[in-house]
Amino acid sequence: MPAPHEIPAGLDVTVVDHPLAASRLSTMRDARTDNAAFRAALRELTLMLIYEASRTLATEKHPIHTPVARTSAIRLANPPLLVPVLRAGLGMADQAHALIPESQMGFVGLARDEETLLPTPYMESLPESLAGRPVYVLDPMLATGGSMVHTIELLKARGATDVTAICALAAPEGLVTLAESGLGVRVVTASVDERLNDSGYIVPGLGDAGDRQFGAV
Ligand code: PRP
Ligand code: URA
Repeated sequence: MPAPHEIPAGLDVTVVDHPLAASRLSTMRDARTDNAAFRAALRELTLMLIYEASRTLATEKHPIHTPVARTSAIRLANPPLLVPVLRAGLGMADQAHALIPESQMGFVGLARDEETLLPTPYMESLPESLAGRPVYVLDPMLATGGSMVHTIELLKARGATDVTAICALAAPEGLVTLAESGLGVRVVTASVDERLNDSGYIVPGLGDAGDRQFGAV
């Protein structure tokens, strides 16, 4: 569990503290876990993160008939746009979509330069206007925060004002970057880890989330 001082004041961070989330994350952390088992654990963890993040989604009532009586039913008033950040976020996309089938999906492709640790964008497929739409960014890793800040800036440029970062793991340094960016993002994660190492990897972390899912390319 994170100590309170690891979460910057003013940043809205939800740490999903649940035995099932902790067990899936442990599977992902274990270096012996193969690609297929890693992908399965990430899918299951995504379900829990999305379930928690979506608590605050607006709903609306509409009338239905059960086999017995007329009653009032609930549906999402404004489903979020799901935005997986390629590559690693792809492993969260299907499960998030399964839980919120009404959602549409956009895509952002970024690769972190291993020397500078800065994100290099290579793909962007997003609706022209995001005004009034909640957006869930799906990326298992928040490390320096550079990739997430870049993604949120793309979304803000299209008018998004309600952005949630859904991450398996976050480093304290990445949370500080988000807080200092002033972009007003909410974060839902299963863990705030200890720190980044000299290579910009989260410690204890789980290694390279893209490689752990798809293999090193
Ligand atoms: C990983 C991860 C994030 C980024 C986080 O992707 O999925 O997008 O690093 O690092 P940051 O917070 O320091 O920016 P990577 O760039 O390794 O690409 P991949 O998903 O293709 O493996
Ligand atoms: N990206 C990853 O995939 N893992 C890390 O630990 C940091 C960035």
